[in-house]
Amino acid sequence: MSKRRPSIGVFDSGFGGLTVLKALLEVIAGADFIYFGDTARLPYGSKSVDTVARYAVDSSHYLESHGAQLLVIACNTATALALDRITAATHVPVIGVVEPGADSAAAVSKNKRIVVIGTEATVSSQAYSKALAARGMQATEKACPLLVPLVEEGWVEHPVTKQVAGIYLGEAFQGEFEDADVLVLGCTHYPLLKPLLQSVAPAHVTIVDSAESTARAVARRMRALLPQVDDGEDERRAQARLKFFATDSVEKFQRLGQRFLGRSIEGVQHVDLKE
Ligand code: DGL
Repeated sequence: MSKRRPSIGVFDSGFGGLTVLKALLEVIAGADFIYFGDTARLPYGSKSVDTVARYAVDSSHYLESHGAQLLVIACNTATALALDRITAATHVPVIGVVEPGADSAAAVSKNKRIVVIGTEATVSSQAYSKALAARGMQATEKACPLLVPLVEEGWVEHPVTKQVAGIYLGEAFQGEFEDADVLVLGCTHYPLLKPLLQSVAPAHVTIVDSAESTARAVARRMRALLPQVDDGEDERRAQARLKFFATDSVEKFQRLGQRFLGRSIEGVQHVDLKE
């Protein structure tokens, strides 16, 4: 008798969380993924805690009501500001991106000094610094608000982006963090800039991508929570099935989203979340 395929909900403020979905698809097969991008209300990175929490809880409820058995909060800002509120408001396990990112960074750092880059809101919350301090690390966080629009413009190898990133990282890797040996990408958009960031960061720095760390954490959690994914070779080899929901233009989601997911996106459904 075939069992129900596991269903994983992935939430983000927009397109960026597709980098997390991309990483999830690399390590988990045989699951249904439901992706919700709150494109009508992005960016979250410049908004207040209460606003982000309200939007993120609405969106998480939507995913839960569409059958998600586990929720991945792919948005760093929503994780940093509202993971507790999302967890309290939903009835399924919730995994954010901050704790897995902090785990990987702590495992890689030799001198226990780490630089985290993210949105204004993520940096103000100090969620990464707190998670890293709990692992015995010292961290400095740097808001890089210009990087999200540059990535959405497709300027991932552009000289202007290189100059902007160089200024941000120059300001972050200074003083007692001059010799920090890990750079955490604490924003969904930054994985697209990984080669550029590696080229402007000090040569000794290792980049930790929260998207990859989160995907590995979700795979581990899924095996424990949803054992049907381990039903057998056929199930494991089965293709992932994807569904996409967006609160703004479906056409724009398809066009921009494919850059983040690295493959074409079809069948996006529009959702109108009433305030
Ligand atoms: N998804 C957001 C994050 O990872 C970036 C985009 C936004 O500000 O909404 O923080």
